[in-house]
Amino acid sequence: MLSSTIFSDLQSLETPFYLYDLALLRKSAEAAKAAADKRGYLIHYALKANPDSRLLGVIAAAGLGADCVSGGEVRRAVECGFAPEKIVFEGVAKRDSDILFAIEKGIYAINCESLEEVVVINSLAASVGKVAEIGLRLNPNIDSHTNEHLTTGRADCKFGISRRELKALLKLLPELKNVHVRGVHFHIGSQILDMTVFEAQCHKAQEIVDDLRNDKGVELEFVNMGGGLGIDYYNPEQNPIPDYEGYFATFEREFCLPEGMVMRFELGRSVVAQCGELVTRVMFTKTNESGRRFLIVDSGMSQLIRPALYGAHHEVRRLGEGVGREVYAVVGDVCESSDTFAYQTELPVTGRGDMLALLSAGAYGASMASCYNLHSLPAAHYWDGELE
Ligand code: LLP
Repeated sequence: MLSSTIFSDLQSLETPFYLYDLALLRKSAEAAKAAADKRGYLIHYALKANPDSRLLGVIAAAGLGADCVSGGEVRRAVECGFAPEKIVFEGVAKRDSDILFAIEKGIYAINCESLEEVVVINSLAASVGKVAEIGLRLNPNIDSHTNEHLTTGRADCKFGISRRELKALLKLLPELKNVHVRGVHFHIGSQILDMTVFEAQCHKAQEIVDDLRNDKGVELEFVNMGGGLGIDYYNPEQNPIPDYEGYFATFEREFCLPEGMVMRFELGRSVVAQCGELVTRVMFTKTNESGRRFLIVDSGMSQLIRPALYGAHHEVRRLGEGVGREVYAVVGDVCESSDTFAYQTELPVTGRGDMLALLSAGAYGASMASCYNLHSLPAAHYWDGELE
């Protein structure tokens, strides 16, 4: 854990802040790339997990592409050195101006989520005299058996094109002269550790891809399997790098990739989660009538919303030497009871001024921060052999 290793360098810093271990990030991105390369697979890093420019520089240098869900993310990816042909653009509600920007930049594919979106992209591309490269995000109707809020591939979710709509779209496609379908896309959820879920995804995708190519005569260059690989939130120090090898091996085993097609992925969390910690300081302590002991810290749900929003778990560590042990509730600076980082966690005896670190916070931490209660957006420091 980086923060305890470099604790003496951190003590004088103003809290709270995210601390990123760039060496660990490099290792993670390179491990993902190596496991994918071995099989000829391509990875687009999902910027939504963390669009920090320093992190993006490391990820782009490791050779990954980018997966963006807004015009802002497409612009950030371009600025941070991702080549346009390595960028894909997703999302159910793309704005016209962002679509036009993506077309103008010549990104690899705009993955469309509805028939109406394809029609709109066709007319926008026509208005600038271009043919837009697109992919079709299909809804495979699979339950990813993850947190209810993180499942995206079921028929009742807002994501993807349904079977029925796909049929109508294929009929219309010959008339849409300003779009070119390059491939199909599936993303069924996030924080998935059960590989049988990805097996089911492969089988459904295979059925659909084979049907499109063989029966409907649609030429496909790629199948994009999305992201979703989970990480170990309970033992981050023991498992800092996810099992990319086992993950990609599942797709290799379960999906027979037709000749000439490429498999693409959009990993977010697995690449960046373990390289980030949220470092905060205890402001006050108190014990309530029920006997619950509180550590009240100078960060909260405006800076790391995952525990409040999803009941997510982040390991808490006290920095520096400590004596004795005590069970605490670690709560934040926002005026809501849901602003609780941990309801019950055992730590060395802790008091005002002590520093705590919330681990595995590199993904969906800073990127989901807000100014709720008019708190500031979180600061960031980086470690790459020295502290910045
Ligand atoms: N591709 C698409 C189309 C996505 O919607 C997502 C994530 C990804 C890729 C990347 O998935 P990953 O590899 O990171 O699982 N805020 C939540 C996670 C939401 C994920 C949304 N989509 C959290 O804090 O757990």
